Amino acid sequence: MSPKHQAPRGTRDLLPGETERWQWAERQAREVLERYAYREIRTPMFEDFELFARSSGESSDVVQKEMYRFQDLKGRDLALRPEGTAGVCRAWIEHNLGAQGRVQRLWYAGPMFRYGRPQKGRFRQFWQIGAEVIGTPAPAADIEIIALFVDLFEAWGFENLTVMMNSVGTPETRRVYGERLRQWLEPARERLSVDSRARLETNPLRVLDTKDPQDLEVLTGKELSGPRPRMLDALDRESREHWDRVLAGLDALHIEHEIDHGLVRGLDYYTRTAFEVHDRQLGAQSALGGGGRYDGLIELLGGPSTPGVGFSIGLDRTIMALEDRAPALPPTPMLYVATTDGTREVAPSFVRALRTVYAVDFDLEGRTLNAQMKAADKSGARLVLLLGDEEWKRGEIILKDLSDGSQQTVEADALVEAIDQRLEPATSEEEE
Ligand code: HAM
Repeated sequence: MSPKHQAPRGTRDLLPGETERWQWAERQAREVLERYAYREIRTPMFEDFELFARSSGESSDVVQKEMYRFQDLKGRDLALRPEGTAGVCRAWIEHNLGAQGRVQRLWYAGPMFRYGRPQKGRFRQFWQIGAEVIGTPAPAADIEIIALFVDLFEAWGFENLTVMMNSVGTPETRRVYGERLRQWLEPARERLSVDSRARLETNPLRVLDTKDPQDLEVLTGKELSGPRPRMLDALDRESREHWDRVLAGLDALHIEHEIDHGLVRGLDYYTRTAFEVHDRQLGAQSALGGGGRYDGLIELLGGPSTPGVGFSIGLDRTIMALEDRAPALPPTPMLYVATTDGTREVAPSFVRALRTVYAVDFDLEGRTLNAQMKAADKSGARLVLLLGDEEWKRGEIILKDLSDGSQQTVEADALVEAIDQRLEPATSEEEE
């Protein structure tokens, strides 16, 4: 029988046993971001619907089909954030962050919401970690952002990642290229899906984003005249120079990359650099993260003309991919305090003092010593501190090591030293 209440479709609970891996991944990420001198920004989980409609693009799937849009009790038109960049740019404008430094390096993490069809690796609430460099058009910013992107994956234990790269130029490039693509696809129009046919009119580049097998077949171009036009061939001179410098920078840093002429990204705000990383083992939803430059976005949102570049990584997918790769997490050394009838009363204050230093478990229900010892075993604790009646009166505690069953009685004054001695060898072995 299924329970009356279940987590809403497309959402899930992260339970103890999983959350440790999430915490580990988040800690690794935070360390890398700090070493890159990025500073955290936290923006609301909902914003004006209009902000997302403008930034992601009216014709994007995110806005057309996937928005959690709602009215609050005063009738405001709001939406749960589908991504982080729009909110960061809105905050940058609202707080005039440009005045605090020409170039801002920012990062954020948190849940995002998209009303897609749930499947492996696709959720309606999912987590992202993202970073943005706002305030410079320099190719060095693109290179740094991609290096940071790759270094995060490396800190999580991924090896041999290849970054897929493309340049989407300027809005003018995309208009010219979109027209070339539309003309090229025209003879095959009838074989395209309904969605793609509509996109051919409104935003032909979006056709390249299709997942429809029939569309993908058409896009191989076997039955069309000449090879598929490429966006890189439509770049203006400055965008081309920018592209060449970004690629040269990646080479200099030995960052593996490949050109993907079909990479257009799902959001409309991109200019010039666009990139993604995929993990083929994940199946259809294989993008672990992606990003690019958005030189027109801040102006589009009503701010001063200000360039930016950034990325987001999907943590759900990344952690799914990590489950096979990451080393098992070492258990926390934990103490279990066991009491007898005569010492039950003192346990709370004794445990509270110990908890200033160690992770400590103890029995809340006044169960028998036997039951407590079983619970200690199950808890994964390394040491049991047994408060025996007689020993407690003498100022002594029995220390039982669950790893080898050995036992010693120690004076309360020497307790910390004795605990540390027993916990230490395990730690130093791990470090070797
Ligand atoms: P995005 O490519 O839309 O980019 O999303 C980034 C990552 O979020 C994806 O590669 C994927 O791992 C994850 N993701 C997206 N949708 C879902 C979903 N429904 N379930 C699970 N994971 C998902 C952005 O969001 C841009 N804001 C990136 C950016 C930052 N560009 C410039 N700055």
